[in-house]
Amino acid sequence: MAHLFNRNILLGVSGGIAAYKSAELVRQLQELGASVRVIMTRGAQEFITPLTLQALSGHPVHTDLLDAEAEQGMGHIELARWADLLLIAPATADILARLASGRADDLLTAAALATAAPRLLAPAMNQQMWRDPATTANVATLTARGMAFVGPASGEQACGDIGPGRLVEPAAIAEAAAALFEDGLLQGRRVVITAGPTREALDPVRYISNHSSGKMGYALAQAAVDAGARTTIVSGPVQLPAPDHTRVIAVESATQMLDRCLELLPECDIFIACAAVADYRPAATQAQKIKKGPEQISLQLVRNPDIVATVAAREQHPFTVGFAAETRDVVAYAREKLQRKGLDMIVANDVSDQSIGFNSDVNEAVVLWRDGEQALARTGKSTMARQIVQLIARHLDQGLPDRPGRDDSRK
Ligand code: CTP
Repeated sequence: MAHLFNRNILLGVSGGIAAYKSAELVRQLQELGASVRVIMTRGAQEFITPLTLQALSGHPVHTDLLDAEAEQGMGHIELARWADLLLIAPATADILARLASGRADDLLTAAALATAAPRLLAPAMNQQMWRDPATTANVATLTARGMAFVGPASGEQACGDIGPGRLVEPAAIAEAAAALFEDGLLQGRRVVITAGPTREALDPVRYISNHSSGKMGYALAQAAVDAGARTTIVSGPVQLPAPDHTRVIAVESATQMLDRCLELLPECDIFIACAAVADYRPAATQAQKIKKGPEQISLQLVRNPDIVATVAAREQHPFTVGFAAETRDVVAYAREKLQRKGLDMIVANDVSDQSIGFNSDVNEAVVLWRDGEQALARTGKSTMARQIVQLIARHLDQGLPDRPGRDDSRK
């Protein structure tokens, strides 16, 4: 089934009798998972109020190009950049003509020029206007410039005519929008990624942690989003911006990370454990700052739960991917870890090589699964993330049937 998870749809509504159907269209787009913001032309506002579309989309409706207040919030350039798709529905004969001549004298035409996103047009007009050679020429011009069209449908028109020019039904427009994105390898999948270090508190001001930067986990999240997945990062403290269209859940300790991950499991198809989880935590966290005392003190540490092994041991577990940091016999130790933790896949690094790993922007790894392995040559973390996502997508369904207790109904 088609999805629009993580997709920002900028919906342009122009002034035709079919404008009232844009209310249903907003709902249909949202139902497929999209975030929707609306631009209305002056004409559209004669047919449906901005308030209706504001209430449905959950965002103020944009109407004016030269509105100082609106430009301070999200101006036409920001809107154009925000959009993953500009969808104009209904697209009147007038808007087709103005787009074809490259005008930018209202917000919708300006955004249409300013966006790098794909543009999908759903025309609606009187059948004679649609058949007019001027409209035919405009459609040809816009098609040649790479704009996509859905419809119009044929049938009885509001004006009583019968012929082509009816707006395609909103559900079919939403499906057409989703189809534009359908090459995503993980389209419709839900991915949870742990990333960064954990902090294990000793007292209110001190903690045990490690040097993990979170870069690999965040790169994986971006790659998963780019492949169409709905992606959540459960992140220890890092200095990284959230990748586009991901949800970041901030945690500190290993036990918090485990709790959040377990909460997310019912909505998770793929679990990737990239975090550098502290294996031990202080046996007790002091409520007050520990004061200087004797020359030597001892810390008692207790084992933290293993998050990825806990997830993999669940009866209905997602496709589970772990990481292994090894200093020697990388493949042998990683394969043992794959089996011991019950994982579907493991990405193994040689951390004795100082030039890769933790704070570096490059990485080199071997990816192992039950009956195979593939070396990933040294490359940037974002390229490696894409390669790992490709391997996961390739093995996802293969890895499922043999595993006892796995819930195949979710496929
Ligand atoms: N991991 C986890 N929870 C932990 C420790 C590790 O989820 N408490 C995950 C990491 O995110 C990684 C994988 O387990 O995906 C491997 O971590 P690593 O520290 O290399 O392996 P360990 O099982 O701790 O084994 P060892 O340190 O003995 O090599």
